[in-house]
Amino acid sequence: MKTVQVLDKTFELSISEEKIQERIEQLAVQMNKDLEGQEPLFVCILNGAFMFASDLFKKITVENASITFFRLASYEGTVSTGKVRKIMGFTEDLENKTVVVLEDIIDTGITMENTIEQINAYNPKQVKIATLVYKPEACKVELDIDYVGFEIPNEFIVGYGLDYNAKGRNLPAIYTLAK
Ligand code: IMP
Ligand code: MG
Repeated sequence: MKTVQVLDKTFELSISEEKIQERIEQLAVQMNKDLEGQEPLFVCILNGAFMFASDLFKKITVENASITFFRLASYEGTVSTGKVRKIMGFTEDLENKTVVVLEDIIDTGITMENTIEQINAYNPKQVKIATLVYKPEACKVELDIDYVGFEIPNEFIVGYGLDYNAKGRNLPAIYTLAK
């Protein structure tokens, strides 16, 4: 079992780099079909989704697709605080746009619910949700998620953009906290 140490914790390999890339390719194929003719605006939720957004967006072939960044923060350590702060908002016009929100992970779902509420205030035509990882057992809110990369049990993960106290984001694969 391949393990890594991040700060004081040990993590075990759970989703390899190859598996992540393969799944992103599949999601992109689906999005390219679904979003044809829409001139979609992808919204990368910072910080965690930057790698997912970067790898996915390279595979988006829909004409006039664009990308922007939205920054929220809610986590402290390995537990969701339930409090979401907006750190960086939009400068672009979202009115009547097809927006695709790109998130690294949906855990309690509170961040995503809050993000969608904030985005809806700009009157987009439609908002689609894409998350690389989803923890169905942890989710506390009703969310209509359009694209899910991987469903995982209610465990803490790091790597591929996801952090443990700001560390571990640079790992190219996803690792689960060892029991
Ligand atoms: P939620 O509001 O509880 O759904 O949390 C969403 C945010 O918490 C994500 O955007 C991540 O930044 C962070 N998060 C949730 N689960 C994990 C995890 O297992 N590892 C690292 N960060 C996580
Ligand atoms: Mg995040």
